Amino acid sequence: MNLSKEIKRRRTFGIISHPDAGKTTLTEKLLLFGGAIQEAGAVKSNKIKKGATSDFMEIERQRGISVATSVLAFEYKGIKINILDTPGHKDFAEDTFRTLTAVDSVIVVIDVAKGVEEQTEKLVEVCRMRKIPMIVFINKLDREGKDAFELLDEIEQKLGLAVTPLSFPIGMGYDFKGIYNIWEKNVNLFSGDSKKNIEETIEIKDINSNELDDLIGSASAKNLREELELTQGVYPAFNRDEYLAAAQHPVFFGSALNNFGVRELLDCFIQIAPPPRPKESAERLVKPEENDFSGFVFKIHANMDPKHRDRLAFVKIVSGKFERNKPYLHVRQGKNFKFSSPNAFFAERKEIVDESYPGDIVGLHDTGNFKIGDTLTAGEELHYKGIPSFSPEHFRYINNADPMKSKQLEKGIDQLMDEGVAQLFTLELNGRKVIGTVGALQYEVIQYRLEHEYGAKCTYEPLNVFKACWVEPNDPKSEEFKEFLRVKQKYMATDKKGQLVFFADSPFTLQMTEQKFPNVKLHSVSEFK
Ligand code: G4P
Repeated sequence: MNLSKEIKRRRTFGIISHPDAGKTTLTEKLLLFGGAIQEAGAVKSNKIKKGATSDFMEIERQRGISVATSVLAFEYKGIKINILDTPGHKDFAEDTFRTLTAVDSVIVVIDVAKGVEEQTEKLVEVCRMRKIPMIVFINKLDREGKDAFELLDEIEQKLGLAVTPLSFPIGMGYDFKGIYNIWEKNVNLFSGDSKKNIEETIEIKDINSNELDDLIGSASAKNLREELELTQGVYPAFNRDEYLAAAQHPVFFGSALNNFGVRELLDCFIQIAPPPRPKESAERLVKPEENDFSGFVFKIHANMDPKHRDRLAFVKIVSGKFERNKPYLHVRQGKNFKFSSPNAFFAERKEIVDESYPGDIVGLHDTGNFKIGDTLTAGEELHYKGIPSFSPEHFRYINNADPMKSKQLEKGIDQLMDEGVAQLFTLELNGRKVIGTVGALQYEVIQYRLEHEYGAKCTYEPLNVFKACWVEPNDPKSEEFKEFLRVKQKYMATDKKGQLVFFADSPFTLQMTEQKFPNVKLHSVSEFK
C-alpha cells in the first residue's frame, strides 16, 4: 500500500470538553456514523461518577473503560479516523495533556447553556500553545441556552479563539427548528429523534428564496437572514490555511444526543482537518512520509489483571510504516525490540495488526521497558519533544508502611510513575520522597494499586508546596545561582529524570524568589528548551 496515500486518508484527533458538555455522546454519535457501533449507549462513559473519590471499584471500573476507549478507530467515506480519548475529570488532566501531544487536531465541545467552563479553558490553552487546529461544537441546542452571538463572543473572549461559524442555529430550546449549514449551504430541520441515524438535509441554493420561508416559516426565515448577514459582517470567511495554522476556528451547532448537526460536523471535519503532521524531535523535524518508521509513547496502561504485571504502551506513529515482528530501536535504552502482537483499537474491540501508518496508534505489550515520552525508531537516534511534565497541584511525602516490602514499594512507585499516574520528587537535603499529583484522587489510586498489584503499603504525610518549578540558571557557575542553592537548600528536589526542581510554598515566595534571583529561571513545565 502506498505510504503517502495512507497518510493522506488519516485523521487523528481528540475531543475535549468540560465534564458533562457531551463529549461521550458526541463520540458515540460519530462512531454511529462510521458504522463502528450499531446503537447508542455502546460507548461507556469513562467519567468518574460524582462522589466516587473513595470508591475503589469505581476507580478500577474507570481504568477498565479507559483502556477500552483509549483509541476509537473507524472508517468514514474512505477516511480512517482515530479518536483519542481524553479524560474529562480534572484529576486526570495530565493524562489529557499528554494525549494532546498525539493528536493532529481537536474538537472542543461546549454546552450551549453553560458556555465556556473552567476545564475547557485549561485544555484549550494547551492546544493553543501547541497550535493544534480546533473546531468548536456547541452542543445541546435542543435546550434553552445562551444566544449564539453571545456564545461566539464568549469563546473569543475567554478562550482567545478567532471564530468563524460554519453553521448557525434556527431558534433554540423549545423553538429550535434546525440549523443552517453555512459550509454546505443547506438547511437541516430538527425532528428531536435521538434514535435517528441519518438526517434529512434540504439544499437551499439561495437563502433569499421563498423556499426558506416555506420550510421554517417567514418569521424564522427573516430572522435567520438577518443573523447570517450579521455573521458575514462580523466574522471572517473560513480560510483553511488559517484553521490549519490554529489562527481561525470554525464553529458548528447541534445536539449530539439527538444526533443533530453531527453529520455536518463530521463531513466538514474529514475535508478540512489535517492528516498526520511533521513532528519536531530534538535532532530534526520528522515528516510522516519518510520511509523509516518512528513513533513515541504517549500513554501507558497497566494490565487490569494484577497477577500479570504487563502493560500496554500506546505509541503514536509519526513516520513510515510500522510492521509486526520487525526489530525497532528503543532509543532511550539503546536496545532493539520486536513486537509480535501489536494491537490496533476499534470501537468495541482490539485486534492484532501487521502494519500501521502515521497517525495510527498501536498498543505494544510491555513488561516495564517503556516510559511516557520514549521514542521508537527504525534505527535513527531520535528523541521526540513535547511531552513535558506540568507542576503538580498536590504534594505529599510518601512513607513505607511495611519495612519488609521496601523493594516492592520502590518497584511499584517506579512503575506507576512511568505510567504517568503522578510525579516523584526526591528532596536534596534528606532524600525523602515526595509524590506530586494533579488531583487528590491519585493518592488513593496509588495506595490502592501499590497494595493490590505490588503487595506494598504506604502512608502519606502532608507537605506545604504550592508549585514545583523546574530550575534553569542562566549560568550554573554564577555566584547568584550558588546563593540560590544555598538559601533555598531546604526546598530543592530532583524529579525522576534528575532535573532540578524548586518547591515554592506560596505564590508570594515564588514571586520574591524570582525577584531576588532574576538570573535563575523558574519554569512550571519540565520542558523549556
Ligand atoms: P461528557 O462525556 O462530556 O461528560 O458528557 P456526556 O456525553 O456524558 O453527556 C452529559 C449529559 O448531557 C448526559 O446526560 C447526556 O445525555 C446529555 N447530553 C449530551 N448531549 C446532549 C444534547 O444534545 N442535548 C441534551 N438535552 N442533552 C445532552 P446525563 O443525564 O448526565 O446522562 P445519561 O443518563 O443521559 O447518560
